[in-house]
Amino acid sequence: MKYTDFDKSAGYAGLLEIANKSEAFDFKKMLNADRVKTCQTFLAEGLVYNWAAKSVDEKVLNALQALSDELELIPKYKALLEGEVMNTGEDRKVLHQLSRSLDEKTATGISVENEGRDLGAFYRKELIRFSEFTERVRSGEIGPAPGRRFTCFAQIGIGGSDLGPRALSLALENWAAAEGKITYRAEFISNVDPDDASKISSSLPLEETLFVLVSKSGTTQETLTNELFVKEKLKNAGLDPGKHMLAVTSETSPLANNPGYLDSFYFDDFIGGRYSSTSPVGGVILSLAYGNDVFKDLLIGAASADKAALNPDITKNAALLDALIGVWERNFLKMGCTCILPYSQALSRFPAHLQQLDMESNGKRVNRDGKPISYSTGPVIFGEPGTNGQHSFFQLLHQGTDIIPLQFIGFKQSQRKDDSVIDGSTSQAKLNANLAAQITAFAIGQGSDNGNKDFPGGRPVSLIYGDRLTPQALGALLAHFENKVMFQGFIWNLNSFDQEGVQLGKVLAKKILTKAGKSSGDPVLDAYGEILGV
Ligand code: F6P
Repeated sequence: MKYTDFDKSAGYAGLLEIANKSEAFDFKKMLNADRVKTCQTFLAEGLVYNWAAKSVDEKVLNALQALSDELELIPKYKALLEGEVMNTGEDRKVLHQLSRSLDEKTATGISVENEGRDLGAFYRKELIRFSEFTERVRSGEIGPAPGRRFTCFAQIGIGGSDLGPRALSLALENWAAAEGKITYRAEFISNVDPDDASKISSSLPLEETLFVLVSKSGTTQETLTNELFVKEKLKNAGLDPGKHMLAVTSETSPLANNPGYLDSFYFDDFIGGRYSSTSPVGGVILSLAYGNDVFKDLLIGAASADKAALNPDITKNAALLDALIGVWERNFLKMGCTCILPYSQALSRFPAHLQQLDMESNGKRVNRDGKPISYSTGPVIFGEPGTNGQHSFFQLLHQGTDIIPLQFIGFKQSQRKDDSVIDGSTSQAKLNANLAAQITAFAIGQGSDNGNKDFPGGRPVSLIYGDRLTPQALGALLAHFENKVMFQGFIWNLNSFDQEGVQLGKVLAKKILTKAGKSSGDPVLDAYGEILGV
């Protein structure tokens, strides 16, 4: 397998030539009803990726396919699945796809060993352990005290130990209720701002609450602080914290093997924080709140998207095509942002999860060997659910000076199916009418002699759509974006699986906190500390 910096590839040169020579893609001419219905590909679990309103013609598509073949994107994905060390900075395998394995074989039929240990078997063992445990909690067999049940669950974690599980929990809440699933309240505490832990813990019936402490490293300041914050509240309420807290961590963390927790569930360093939603990091809280059959359906959905991402034909591989088009926009059309717009309230925190997933993975300026690179890498990711976003930042998206590619997500049906006809249409119809309208307005625009009312169009748009946001569809959606980010990392020849860029701030914060009235040796740091009262 060859690892080449992107700008040294023939594919890069080919795409650059097309970008320099071709006239800009004419959305008004190119985008027609036929293109809307044909420029799309099956993603998985009934979801479809539509790229009709992307500035991609036959020539660009062929060049992207050639690039994918030349950079061996599918063989690299297969090597990752087979356990090759892809996290080069930390010398680790990358095995989050293996965590979706429900039976002897992984979704892709590959097994991975490390130092004689079958890792698929390890992940499955933990899945079985926490599935049994969570069912015993839900049935009341395990409770806080004889004759009492846990009725609320609260996860304490931050970053990858919070964003994905929180986004998924919100995404499942309405669906589970509408389907008549027995559901329990799930809350999340992440910020070290005391107002977060204080507000959530004081809103919970502590005597019936089980806290799920999640930290892979077991050293994250915010999470350990919030653990002690909550334990103090439990003690003050006359409760034994040991009977109200579980741990999810790695076997090598300082939190592991601690009898002070009701139980502990494990994953390992081969599953990065932002890729850990399908491990016990997301599995425990989702199983407690919605039942482990729901979580397993989510795993099935993720596994089927992982499988679909193996297709070498870019027009039949949604994650690969999405990644390649993103690179076309970022490196050749010079677009620096991507906006994620789910037209689904259930996905209200999904953009925040994708922000970490993408920006922590591909926000890098060195290649996988730590050598500087001189081309653009990961875009800025932001987003909000529609239609709320329309009444906020859409003005800039329609008429601002920068062109920002848009990634819409929509569903034909609502999750709750509790809807009314008002002014001749349901709310769901209004939601999707707005979605169709926005895509058309962004892509085609509308000319006017009045510059203020002129919509230039030409904003590239993709749409992922399906019938309804079910656990399977949600799992597929999650894996789609994980795989998109992975393919882009391969193209940019960087390591998408470490996050050195978050370390410096952690070190400096510690320096201020431990200087004990003295100078930290850094006058600027001290001055900022001083004006903030630290
Ligand atoms: O600060 C970034 C980070 O390292 C993320 O990558 C990670 O998801 C998060 O912190 C939490 O880490 P942990 O699970 O080890 O507490």
